[in-house]
Amino acid sequence: MNFATANLPDDFDEFVEDLLAKIDSVEGYLAPNEIRFLALLGAVKTAPGEILEIGSFKGKSTIILAKAAALQGNATVHAVDPMIAPSETDPDLGDDQSSFPDFERNITEHGVSERIRLHQKFSHELAENWELPIRLLWIDGDHTYEGTKRDFEGFADHLSDGAIVAIHDVLHEFEGGVRVFIENILLSPNFGACGFVGSIAWAQFHKDPGVGKRFRDQKLMLYKRLSRLVPFLVFHEPLTGMAKKRYKLYRSRIPRAAVKPAEWIGCVEKK
Ligand SMILES: C[S@@+](CC[C@H](N)C(=O)[O-])C[C@H]1O[C@@H](n2cnc3c(N)ncnc32)[C@H](O)[C@@H]1O
Repeated sequence: MNFATANLPDDFDEFVEDLLAKIDSVEGYLAPNEIRFLALLGAVKTAPGEILEIGSFKGKSTIILAKAAALQGNATVHAVDPMIAPSETDPDLGDDQSSFPDFERNITEHGVSERIRLHQKFSHELAENWELPIRLLWIDGDHTYEGTKRDFEGFADHLSDGAIVAIHDVLHEFEGGVRVFIENILLSPNFGACGFVGSIAWAQFHKDPGVGKRFRDQKLMLYKRLSRLVPFLVFHEPLTGMAKKRYKLYRSRIPRAAVKPAEWIGCVEKK
């Protein structure tokens, strides 16, 4: 059965624009096109299984996923975040308060508390006992290389055939997302359709390693362009001056425009 054919409601575009306006009050780090794309990922069930979000902060992406997934009936978003403060892995978040009270208030105000299962712990702690199949793995937690790799590897064995993996901030100045996307996803024969929307990198997982070959050109193009970014992130700390300018020039070559829902569904349907 092809799960991607799960129909989007006719008024999906209106739903998304309404969501975009409503979610504006929730603090977070998602650009409008990223919000639209996350809504699509939540709404289109490309495989059986759960939605797992790593890194929830104050609930912005959690709410988007929960509302979009609800379009297809009953769905739970599993959210894992220790919500301790100050955050060791995200010092930029500042704040000497846990994000938990804001998270709880936001999901209540947006009417999705019942659809969210919060695991208030580190992702590697959740991974130790996780047994459910996953249809969408959304990684937006620890942005270091070790942290992102651990997040991917901790849950990769639970990906359903046809599942989507999406990683945030891959085109921001963090080493984790870009390296894991290259090493664990683009170089893996088990991933097929792939791309970017804003700074979200996404790819579709297939149990059959033969599928990767069919997407060779798309994967190779992204591999070549993304690989040029890695030295800047690994060897230039902090990234400033000419190095930063060159990083930005190379980054501008990565296609990352918004997708049309029907076209995206068409592209993940090809198995
Ligand atoms: C950038 S914020 C997430 C933003 C959220 N996805 C949104 O769109 O609003 C990163 C979050 O990851 C959490 N985090 C960091 N390391 C983590 C880990 N190992 N496991 C789970 N969450 C983690 C932090 O506590 C922080 O709340």
